Amino acid sequence: MTANDHAPDAASSPAARPAPRRGAGKRALVVGASSGMGAELVRQLAHEGYAVAAVARRQAELDALAAEPSAGEVHAFAHDVNAIDEIPDLLERIVEALGGLDLYVYAAGVMPDVGAEEYDTEKDLAMVDVNLGGAIAWTNPVARLFHSQRGGTIVGIGSIAGDRGRKGAPVYGATKAAFATYLESLRNRLAERAVRVVTIKPGMVETPMTAHLDKLVMPVSADRAAREILSVSRSRLWNVRHVPLRWFPVSVIIRSIPSLLFRRTNI
Ligand SMILES: NC(=O)c1ccc[n+]([C@@H]2O[C@H](COP(=O)([O-])OP(=O)(O)OC[C@H]3O[C@@H](n4cnc5c(N)ncnc54)[C@H](OP(=O)(O)O)[C@@H]3O)[C@@H](O)[C@H]2O)c1
Repeated sequence: MTANDHAPDAASSPAARPAPRRGAGKRALVVGASSGMGAELVRQLAHEGYAVAAVARRQAELDALAAEPSAGEVHAFAHDVNAIDEIPDLLERIVEALGGLDLYVYAAGVMPDVGAEEYDTEKDLAMVDVNLGGAIAWTNPVARLFHSQRGGTIVGIGSIAGDRGRKGAPVYGATKAAFATYLESLRNRLAERAVRVVTIKPGMVETPMTAHLDKLVMPVSADRAAREILSVSRSRLWNVRHVPLRWFPVSVIIRSIPSLLFRRTNI
């Protein structure tokens, strides 16, 4: 017997073994997954070893996401959140395909341009349907599931735009404010069932949604935003979090401006 008989085999030494992936065995659902932050969340979760269900209308974008070389286990489900009758069955199919559900993110949203003198009810209610109606229609059955299984994390993508009633975005901001209030209620309801409910308020993020805007203030990439969203979803420190964090003090200042002054600004 030589000394080497007792030495650990190089291939099985801790350094040589691949580290267990953070998401191994876990299951995630992202609604609004075909572009921007939602697509980045899918990429990062799959890279971590999660089995991920990606939901949005554009099948081709979802298929391309699932086919990326580093995609891991990504299941694409084409769906329009306005088709609320489909949601309970689709959620059931997703949970069956993934073998359960641990993390859910509602990232679907629309922000059409609204002119300073435009009061277009059809356009406004289309925003309400996706940003709020779809959010509630998806989050309610997920909340019921997490309630009964006594665990899970719900993440809703709100916006800094919901912190104040801005001249430029009356209904977009209102949908995000209402979504944040709905999520707060769920958080208070589900706390005793060990379910976390996290509200994310992004500042300006470089995604297709903002691509047409002339100037973005303190922008971050969708990749960076997604990394922060996942980090916040795991931290016990924050239930509501601006992304990136530097928007938090900005929001405190913006919220403290008296209405009479605020209406004179364009922030
Ligand atoms: N970018 C920013 O600066 C910013 C800042 C604050 C908050 N947010 C919020 O962040 C979230 C993600 O936006 P993003 O910036 O990543 O923009 P994005 O790239 O335009 O992503 C929006 C996602 O919502 C999906 N979606 C829209 N309508 C849908 C519908 N009827 N049914 C199903 N899915 C639908 C889109 O997929 P399909 O078109 O394929 O359906 C897409 O996957 C949104 O809620 C947005 O309001 C963005």
